[in-house]
Amino acid sequence: MLDPSRRTLALNDERTWFQRAVFYEVYVRGFYDATGDGQGDIRGVTSKLDYLEWLGIDCLWLLPFYASPWKDGGYDVSDYYSVHPAYGSVTDIEELLNQAHLRGIRVIADLVLNHTSDQHPWFAESKMSRDNPKSDWYVWADDDGGYQSAPVIFIDSQSSNWTYCPDREQYYWHRFFNHQPDLNYENPDVQEAMLQVVRYWLGLGFDGFRLDAAAYLFQAEGTCCENLPATHTFLKRIRSVVDAEFPEAVLLAEVNQVPSEVVNYFGNGDECHMCYDFPLMPRLFLSVKTESALPTAEALRQTPDIPAGCQWGIFLRNHDELTLEMVTDQEREFLYSAFASDPISRRNVGIGRRLAPLIDNDRRVAELLHALILSLPGSPILYYGDEILMGDNIYLGDRDSVRTPMQWSPDRNGGFSRADPARLYSSPIIDPVYGYQVVNVESQMNNPSSFLRWTREMLSVRHRESVLGDGEFKLLSVDNDCVLAFARFLARDERVVLCVFNFASKVQPVSVNLSDWISRVPVELLGMTPFPVIEDDGAYRLTLAPYGFLWFELCVA
Ligand code: BGC
Repeated sequence: MLDPSRRTLALNDERTWFQRAVFYEVYVRGFYDATGDGQGDIRGVTSKLDYLEWLGIDCLWLLPFYASPWKDGGYDVSDYYSVHPAYGSVTDIEELLNQAHLRGIRVIADLVLNHTSDQHPWFAESKMSRDNPKSDWYVWADDDGGYQSAPVIFIDSQSSNWTYCPDREQYYWHRFFNHQPDLNYENPDVQEAMLQVVRYWLGLGFDGFRLDAAAYLFQAEGTCCENLPATHTFLKRIRSVVDAEFPEAVLLAEVNQVPSEVVNYFGNGDECHMCYDFPLMPRLFLSVKTESALPTAEALRQTPDIPAGCQWGIFLRNHDELTLEMVTDQEREFLYSAFASDPISRRNVGIGRRLAPLIDNDRRVAELLHALILSLPGSPILYYGDEILMGDNIYLGDRDSVRTPMQWSPDRNGGFSRADPARLYSSPIIDPVYGYQVVNVESQMNNPSSFLRWTREMLSVRHRESVLGDGEFKLLSVDNDCVLAFARFLARDERVVLCVFNFASKVQPVSVNLSDWISRVPVELLGMTPFPVIEDDGAYRLTLAPYGFLWFELCVA
């Protein structure tokens, strides 16, 4: 274990670190194979920490690494206390945590709360009879007629949330795959068992959890079985354990819900510290395709205020499909036709593509979207490989399309593994546009104008301008619908950052209302170039390149 005094030196000892952090999501299986068996592993992640430190990320989010039959990328856990043998051991995890902390990088784990694998010993016991000690650790019923208002989530493969179990001659409830039975949180023993899991991994040194599928923990007849009061009560229980025993740990909730529901997961600052901003994400893509800032501005207007000490998690892509659950039917149809004209790229209610192919590999759009998630209210969460604009393979099933090996170099297997290529868990991308021979970390590190180097530079500006992490947010009025403008500032502080974005593919003029900051001098943050002073009427004219953006500090003259 890490010497605690070193850790305090390396990491700032304060509770709201996550408000200024840049997160980086790692699919361990696809990141780096240190053991040469064709699968990424924990030691592989550890060996790439220098890279992640160089890039400037603050917190790693590890996708599930627990023992699992791996029928759902590890979200089908068969033992919460052990590491999948292909990934390594608990000792490897401890070493990863130690090495990350020495570099000032925090690490959060994915906590799969809602369900286990059907291979978990709890389920094996539960299904054997109706009166064994674990018989009510899962949600059982004599027929499949209950909770009909709860939608099926994985519509590509599941037709019902109930599956018949011949052993028990009953049905069990599952919101995801039928090999993932939902735990029964009505049972206090289940709650206790999960709190022990929380204590175990935080005690080992993790800095928090992403709470998987947090909206579905309880069921109630006549409801959609999402966002129920009992679910909030249990999440608050987890939070009270965290506050009492691990006060620096963060809870990041995965709740793919409308803004008025998501905001409840912050409680009164006594539930989750962070929630993903699912409603915002598809609107960014909508704005790009419609060349209009209005969808994004509207989503921002609908984003509720959150309690002090909380934060949104904002992202472009992740290990799942680009989910389109949070848009209107009309918007969804438009997004499908704009981004998934080939039906093979559709997954469930969404699109199984990475960022670069979604935006036709347009570097300008990639920069625009990254600049947005680095300056909008929230902490940015980057998905491994997007920093080099990696491609995908839409012919792989389910969400494996976006989980191909990280492309480290032009060497064999993209530098991901020394194994025989035939042994890899998935082939690396080899097409002429996104193939590892052209798109890889090594070549982009060596190229000063690469997207990787640009991203690194942007992360350093984001760290320098901490107001982008924890500042107030104000949308500014503009006279051009293609353009989004907002300010980030600290109340009672002089420091103000102005951010302006052009969603159009053509150059655009704009006048931004800066009447709150008359006589200040905008200084552009990437080149530190002073711009003309803000005159008395506050109408500030700018010209933006196609998909261009500008960040300024508004300096007191
Ligand atoms: C995860 C998915 C997973 C599902 C079931 C989700 O929210 O992000 O990858 O399949 O939960 O655990």
